[in-house]
Amino acid sequence: MCGIVGYVGNKQAAPILLEGLSKLEYRGYDSAGVAVRDGEKAAVVVKTTGRLKNLSEKIDNGKALAGTCGIGHTRWATHGVPSRENAHPHVSGNCTGSGSGEVESLVVGVHNGIIENYQELKAKMERHGYVFYSQTDTEVLIKLVDYYYKKYQGGPIDALAKTIVRVRGSYALAVMFKDHPGKIFAARKDSPMIIGKNDSEVFLASDVPAILNHTRDVYYIGNLEMAELSPKEVSFYNLDGDKVQKEVTTIEWDAEAAEKGGFEHFMMKEIHEQPKVTMDTLKKYIKDDGKKKHIDFSDFGLTKEDIEGFSQIYIAACGSAWHVGMQAQYVMEELTDIPVRVELASEFRYRKNKLNKNALVIVISQSGETADSLAALRLAKENGIKTLSIVNVVGSSIARETDYCMYTVAGPEISVATTKAYSCQLICAFLLAVEMGKVKGLIDDKKYAYYIEELLSIPSKIEACLENKERIQWFASKYSNARDIFFIGRGIDYAICLEGSLKMKEISYIHSEAYAAGELKHGTISLIEDGTLVVGSLTQADLYEKTLSNMMECKSRGAYLMGITTFGKYDVEDSVNFAVYIPKVDEHFVGNLAIIPLQLLGYYISVSRGLDVDKPRNLAKSVTVE
Ligand code: F6R
Repeated sequence: MCGIVGYVGNKQAAPILLEGLSKLEYRGYDSAGVAVRDGEKAAVVVKTTGRLKNLSEKIDNGKALAGTCGIGHTRWATHGVPSRENAHPHVSGNCTGSGSGEVESLVVGVHNGIIENYQELKAKMERHGYVFYSQTDTEVLIKLVDYYYKKYQGGPIDALAKTIVRVRGSYALAVMFKDHPGKIFAARKDSPMIIGKNDSEVFLASDVPAILNHTRDVYYIGNLEMAELSPKEVSFYNLDGDKVQKEVTTIEWDAEAAEKGGFEHFMMKEIHEQPKVTMDTLKKYIKDDGKKKHIDFSDFGLTKEDIEGFSQIYIAACGSAWHVGMQAQYVMEELTDIPVRVELASEFRYRKNKLNKNALVIVISQSGETADSLAALRLAKENGIKTLSIVNVVGSSIARETDYCMYTVAGPEISVATTKAYSCQLICAFLLAVEMGKVKGLIDDKKYAYYIEELLSIPSKIEACLENKERIQWFASKYSNARDIFFIGRGIDYAICLEGSLKMKEISYIHSEAYAAGELKHGTISLIEDGTLVVGSLTQADLYEKTLSNMMECKSRGAYLMGITTFGKYDVEDSVNFAVYIPKVDEHFVGNLAIIPLQLLGYYISVSRGLDVDKPRNLAKSVTVE
């Protein structure tokens, strides 16, 4: 999605804006731009298509633009093709060419999100004589701010408030007004934006890494709130224009956590962080009172009484987080006896649900900003149903709006393809399953202690899986030209395959499918040809033989088989061509281990194809539009 930055202080703004935008590159983008003001002078706007380095080169790494107040943007096209005209910043006045250069416009702004009623608003603005030079919804937004500013003459906050009331959709908006040099004004609804401050500077960004080199003190601007930024001060306002007091949050993790730390790609670094971050997440919720260990959810206020009241669980999420939900479904239902239903958030939000009032809706999201997941959460709340979120980004919208927020402790995840956040989400789901099973009386003390020890053993076992990486690298080099890859498994193994297949296709661009192994012969098996790679996940003892038979059916039609199973199951080599072994762990929790070779396989195939592993084409890290 788009990335936004803003700076007002005593230093040259443009290099700081570029540095901030580079930290948001992971969000995916196709063009970039900045607008900088030098004192009272009009804003200078510079925009380029393609990578950020094109913009950096054009303005000599920022040195060519004088001024200490500015805004910047990386665009991920939604309305209109990637072009200089459609790139941000946009201006309120008429302009020629692509809207670059010195602009005398009253309002200059950048926006992340989608304005749903932009066509209706555009028609209105055209009737008022405004001329549009781009196809974007953002230009409509900027011109609307200009219109209300001139019409009511109530100042920037009043103009923003009137605009917010008029638009439908989501936005993180940052604007500069010609009449207010040295200031940035911002407004937000449903799109991420944070504001950071130190003694002499104020920063604005879509995400924390963009400002971490300058400050750790951030404010979270709420929905339908506005902010006024000047070098030493930041004020927040509600829709009535009244000031709102905000607490500063200090970011605990440091900028280094968001750097590559010696690895070639963020994805590889994040794969290797999994032993640590899964342990950090376990330690957050497992307490040891000296005599015995127990799971403790007091951190987010989920009580025994709450759990006793739940008679149904719904899980809503997108992408990999939905895959966590798929796995959690098997584990939770078995350990708690509570029926669990998992749905893609984008479906859940539009289905005419007959939701059980005693249900718990669990929303899983790394970013905490995914538009569909947020909408699913709100739908549950409108229906009076309790909500629990499993979220990584502290202070994100989903985290703030949910009744119970169970944070994962994955740290900043930069690579677009999730790895460590996925693993931490699984850990949270397993902790919930075990504790709920205990409260429901289905897990006795002995079994409870056993499950806790098994969970605590996961981090070192992930470490052991990583030691095998050279074998996977070798195997990946053989299959880097594959046309199709199939991932098959049953039950929990099927859920693992869903994630393995997504990792493969999103970063290697090789077509792949995850199939419930028993479903293959109902159609898909016709796609198996000589040499097609079929990866089977074989971690569940009672389903092992069944999935292996399905793999053999593929082999007899020419497939090449890779099998993942636990150490000791060496007979698998009688059937498969390439076997990968993972350490033994309680079968409910095996997903945390079986996914490691699949993450590595996707990674190495992508590298051997020479692709951009961390920023795969067409994808964005945080999907704040539906
Ligand atoms: C895939 C991936 C995506 C996300 C999905 C949800 O590697 O990262 O499928 O899992 O876009 O994002 P969050 O978890 O931020 O809601």
